[in-house]
Amino acid sequence: MPADILKSGPDSYRKAVKILQAGGLVALPTETVYGLAALATDDEAVKKVYAAKGRPALNPLIVHIFEPEMADRYGMPPNKTLFKRLSHNFWPGPLTLVLNQQNDIDISKTALAGLSTIALRCPKVEWTSEFTKLGFAGPLVMPSANRSGHVSPTTAQHVFDDLGDVVDLIIDGGPCPGGIESTVLRIYSDHAKLLRPGSTPTTDFVPFISDLRLPEQSAAPSAPGMLKSHYAPKAAVRLNATEKRPGEAYLAFGPTEIVADMNLSETGNLSEAAQNLYACLRALDKVKTIAIAPIPQEGLGEAINDRLQRAAADR
Ligand code: TXA
Ligand code: MG
Repeated sequence: MPADILKSGPDSYRKAVKILQAGGLVALPTETVYGLAALATDDEAVKKVYAAKGRPALNPLIVHIFEPEMADRYGMPPNKTLFKRLSHNFWPGPLTLVLNQQNDIDISKTALAGLSTIALRCPKVEWTSEFTKLGFAGPLVMPSANRSGHVSPTTAQHVFDDLGDVVDLIIDGGPCPGGIESTVLRIYSDHAKLLRPGSTPTTDFVPFISDLRLPEQSAAPSAPGMLKSHYAPKAAVRLNATEKRPGEAYLAFGPTEIVADMNLSETGNLSEAAQNLYACLRALDKVKTIAIAPIPQEGLGEAINDRLQRAAADR
């Protein structure tokens, strides 16, 4: 039976909590993209997440905590000062921090995919405090609520289109404000490494991290899930397109002379482009090729270009 879609609010949250506590799957809105949530301590529930998404078992899940203070229970930062600085300044918010695992944690082994590290994120959403009031404090695993390899969902309808048959409930909180997944950083004793550019622009870290290293190009995936082809529509994707060729749909950025099918942002605003990116890729996914205008490699442009390169990669 297809999943119910309920508008966010107290009654919907009550239903969501019941389902999660009973080991079910609930799609939830976040400030980045919609997530497919399950109780992180319930290995059977976590296995359902992998099955629903068709996600490879080697790709670990982010553990979502409801308050920054919960991090100590699950993670040991190799550099406490750096961890504190980042969690104080960026949590709750679209930043995922990879730490060493704390000893004997009760998180599902499946979610951790055999690693000695754990990825933690404290999202900036209203439902964390609402769930806590209902006596449920998580933690939740929450990958993006799309079929593995497909474009992430930024509306409840996108979730329904990908996972409507396999999720128990979808909470509709409207379109996600960020539109691109969280930034993933790994903390080491003397530096930090960017594993995935995302909704927190890399330049935001400059005042807080003295040694921030970027992933080596062409090396093995920096995060287990950062496969070269990912975030992909069915259509082929042509990047840095400055013309629309016959049979193509053209996705513009900023003011343009080209007769565009859609525009990521008429005014050339990168936050708006990030917000619209996945919805545009889904909406245009009826043609053979989507041609996409050049996007400046600055601020959120870094994460947008990362996703576009993966969408355009050989599959
Ligand atoms: O914004 C987000 O982060 C969204 C929302 C729903 O919270 N979630 C999300 O999850 O994007 P997912 O599963 O689609 O992407 C998580 C990424 C994957 O690339 C995964 O490999 C990486 O985080 N990851 C998870 N645990 C890791 C670990 N211990 N070490 C390195 N990378 C890890
Ligand atoms: Mg994902």
